[in-house]
Amino acid sequence: MKGIVLAGGRATRLRPLTKITSKQLLPVYNKPMIFYPIETLIKAGIKDILIIIAPEYSGHFLNLLGSGKDFGAKFTYEIQEEPRGLADAFIVGENFIGNDSVAMILGDNIFDEDFSQIVANFKSGATVFAKEVSDPQRYGVIEFDENQNVLSIAEKPEQPKSNFAMVGLYVCDNKVSSLARNVQPSARGEIEITDVINQYKDKNELRVEFVKNIWEDAGTFDSLLRVNNYMAEKAKKESEKNE
Ligand code: TTP
Repeated sequence: MKGIVLAGGRATRLRPLTKITSKQLLPVYNKPMIFYPIETLIKAGIKDILIIIAPEYSGHFLNLLGSGKDFGAKFTYEIQEEPRGLADAFIVGENFIGNDSVAMILGDNIFDEDFSQIVANFKSGATVFAKEVSDPQRYGVIEFDENQNVLSIAEKPEQPKSNFAMVGLYVCDNKVSSLARNVQPSARGEIEITDVINQYKDKNELRVEFVKNIWEDAGTFDSLLRVNNYMAEKAKKESEKNE
């Protein structure tokens, strides 16, 4: 399986922090934010990784991450000229994906979880991940029946049908690029990932797994602060354990 880190976007909610740099280069405790999604993929066993970046500050990502050798991985880069939406990752990354399956992770999504079993056992269709949150209207919201079958996935609904957010990691087979090409821009002008995932659902090819440990979308001041504190605490506990 290949990996994609989607690390473009406008990051308007973090201005002025992001006026002179990219969101995914901001610090999360002792590392730039993008290290976390990269390390999540590597820990899951994925070493061939495409990093999609915006034209602004693209050189900074290259300077920081290079070939991937320091991570024991191989990095390839693509520029997304305009932030056309999350589903665009599968169009920009179409040649890179080729005949393989792909795990796409958002460059500002931070996990403390081991996905290696799910990646190793993945065969086809799509697997997405749910986490219970207090503010579901910020996310794609997954509605389940009593047997945990998916009834619906809605993008940023005003009246969420559950508290389960679809988090920013999507494991898909190589149909994903052609499914992304079917998607028309939404009212906010983006091609939405939910419209890709719903096509898998309609084919009965969608699985949902639950995220057990923390998950943060570090795109707001409060979530960025929370995840900084979490990683600082975690590092402190680990150093105490090793003393
Ligand atoms: P968002 O947080 O939805 O968007 P954003 O980063 O532009 O921030 P804001 O809403 O504050 O303006 O994006 C989630 C992740 O996906 C983030 O890592 C940026 C990335 N992204 C892209 O690379 N390209 C895109 O077209 C979009 C919409 C997001």
